[in-house]
Amino acid sequence: MIKIGLSGIGRMGSYHLAVYERLMKEGFPVKVVAVCDVDTSRLDGSKSTLSNLAGEKGNVSAYKQYTDLDEMLANEELDAVDIIMPTYLHSASAVKVLNSGRHCMCEKPMALNEEQCQAMIDAAEKNGKTLMIGHCLRFWKEYAYLKDITEKGVYGACLKASFWRGGYQDHVNSPSWQDWIITREKGGGGLFDQHIHDADCIRWLFGDPESVSVFGKTVHPKSAHDIVNANYVYDDKPVFAHDDITYMGYPFGYGFNVSFEHGTVEYKDNVLTVYPEAGEKFTPDLSSYGETTDAYYNELKYFLTCVLEGKTPEKCMPYESMQAVKLVTAETVSADNGGKMIQYK
Ligand SMILES: NC(=O)c1ccc[n+]([C@@H]2O[C@H](COP(=O)([O-])OP(=O)(O)OC[C@H]3O[C@@H](n4cnc5c(N)ncnc54)[C@H](O)[C@@H]3O)[C@@H](O)[C@H]2O)c1
Repeated sequence: MIKIGLSGIGRMGSYHLAVYERLMKEGFPVKVVAVCDVDTSRLDGSKSTLSNLAGEKGNVSAYKQYTDLDEMLANEELDAVDIIMPTYLHSASAVKVLNSGRHCMCEKPMALNEEQCQAMIDAAEKNGKTLMIGHCLRFWKEYAYLKDITEKGVYGACLKASFWRGGYQDHVNSPSWQDWIITREKGGGGLFDQHIHDADCIRWLFGDPESVSVFGKTVHPKSAHDIVNANYVYDDKPVFAHDDITYMGYPFGYGFNVSFEHGTVEYKDNVLTVYPEAGEKFTPDLSSYGETTDAYYNELKYFLTCVLEGKTPEKCMPYESMQAVKLVTAETVSADNGGKMIQYK
């Protein structure tokens, strides 16, 4: 049985809690023991803990409650802690968790720079504990399918790939904790907070690019690069990713269009379609690419399974998460310099 505590019961934290509650209901050997949030209104029920992602509501009143991570670590018998706090708190908090002898799940992005990421990796190694970062696309059936057919060359070599994600976030009626998401030093801007999903996916599929060039627009005054067009240079194909965390009024969405020598694969409006060179278009069977259609469930269950079985999280290694931070750091330099081509590899 893994006894787990959660730190940060905001929008994403409340969804993680709902996933653990589902796992507990299903009899998976995990038990939520305690939750921690500096904002007491997240704990006493006066602020809704409704997740913005799935409408699931974690029941915080059922658990021991803390407003300070150190106190939770000192007072509770925990095997693991899930960090779902604002990004600028990830590194120091994860290092504390690992140094206290607990395994650590931590949301993406791993941290705001490579040094902070390395400190997390060092703490995990020193204490012999599992560290995993929540790069959920690696547990998303449609993206796992894309990874599989790309690696196997099912439709030949990849000729071009483009990715996008974005949607309106209401920072007036539903702000992040102290507006950290739209504060550059705290969230890193759109490149770190949201586009990193696709940046990690691009590295996962194709490895490091030769160079990158990013044009960005800052919309929220204290933020950075809330709208971006990122070009990745590989010697054999152009790769592109668009992200927009402002998108006034537009519902959140994501997708990709990847063309190969003998077919094209598109993920659009939550439907994956394969257009083979010969034959009819079809939607592939994704049943072997993830246990459920909920990537967060698949991801958290995978982390817990690695802990239970003493296995390293091969599907999402912390070193790879650090490389994603390194890539978006280079992208930020490019965007800060009007799209300057940055030699990467
Ligand atoms: N994987 C995904 O798809 C996804 C989606 C959304 C957010 N995230 C990530 O999840 C993390 C949290 O994002 P969010 O949208 O839930 O933010 P949020 O602002 O809604 O929630 C953060 C919570 O942390 C709490 N907090 C702040 N300081 C704290 C402290 N010192 N100790 C304990 N709690 C503290 C806040 O009170 C708040 O409840 C971020 O790293 C974000 O990038 C990931």
